[in-house]
Amino acid sequence: MGSVPGPAAGTTDAQTTPTPPPDAVGRGNGGAVPAPPGHVALIMDGNGRWAMARGLPRAAGHSAGAEAVRRCVHAAISRGVGYLTLYAFSSENWRRTPDEVADLTSLLRYYLRHKVAELSREGVRIRIIGDLSRFDDDVRAEAKRAEDVTAGNRRLTLVLALSYGGRADIMQAARHVALAVRDGALDPERLDEALFGRFLLTADLPDPDLIIRTSGECRLSNFLLWQSAYAELVFLDTLWPDFNEQHFDAALDVFARRERRFGARPSL
Ligand code: FPP
Repeated sequence: MGSVPGPAAGTTDAQTTPTPPPDAVGRGNGGAVPAPPGHVALIMDGNGRWAMARGLPRAAGHSAGAEAVRRCVHAAISRGVGYLTLYAFSSENWRRTPDEVADLTSLLRYYLRHKVAELSREGVRIRIIGDLSRFDDDVRAEAKRAEDVTAGNRRLTLVLALSYGGRADIMQAARHVALAVRDGALDPERLDEALFGRFLLTADLPDPDLIIRTSGECRLSNFLLWQSAYAELVFLDTLWPDFNEQHFDAALDVFARRERRFGARPSL
């Protein structure tokens, strides 16, 4: 278990956000460029609709979505974001057709096998959260290799949520807490939010400051349920395969205009 980052606290204010013009970045802060959020998390939605609108198979939408991932990673690096978490495969995605699961798994395998070296050269550290036991052995091995070879990088931590579910994470943490209490290793009176957080898969990661979801859907879909307690939520109408640096900047701009009160009184 890693150390627990600062206490999670703040306010959540969800709204659907049309894309502002690119020159909007920095407004609302006297023209100064605001500090970027330390941790941006993304629900990449709309691959299927993007493909359907073009008369293409859903797999084509996922391939185009993988290209959008590359644009997003580069945007995060160039904007100085420290942590980027991508919801690449949810625990519910196993319910898709076997063909679609195979397409998504192949894409993942390809990117883990062929693109990690390039990411590593750019200073990206890869961390994976989720229940990897459901993937084939070779995908698990590639995932571990990606984490190992990039472990020393510091420019951006790219967290891939794979076979991930927020409730499942909270459940496994609760199970480990219960076992520790049963074994006499943990005094239940000592349990607080910070200590519980150390049992989560994200123990070594800060909570997300900003969660972006594309495609116009306005829900979290079991993503980072505990960790999102005080995240700012931004919903973009853009379908994920169309996502680019302007969309990333637009979301950062909305974030910069939000007042994060962390439960305190609004400023006058
Ligand atoms: C949601 O679109 C997206 C997914 C289920 C998977 C996300 C995967 C990628 C972006 C590509 C692979 C990622 C990596 C890291 C290589 P959807 O299929 O639910 O779209 P729909 O709602 O329009 O049907």
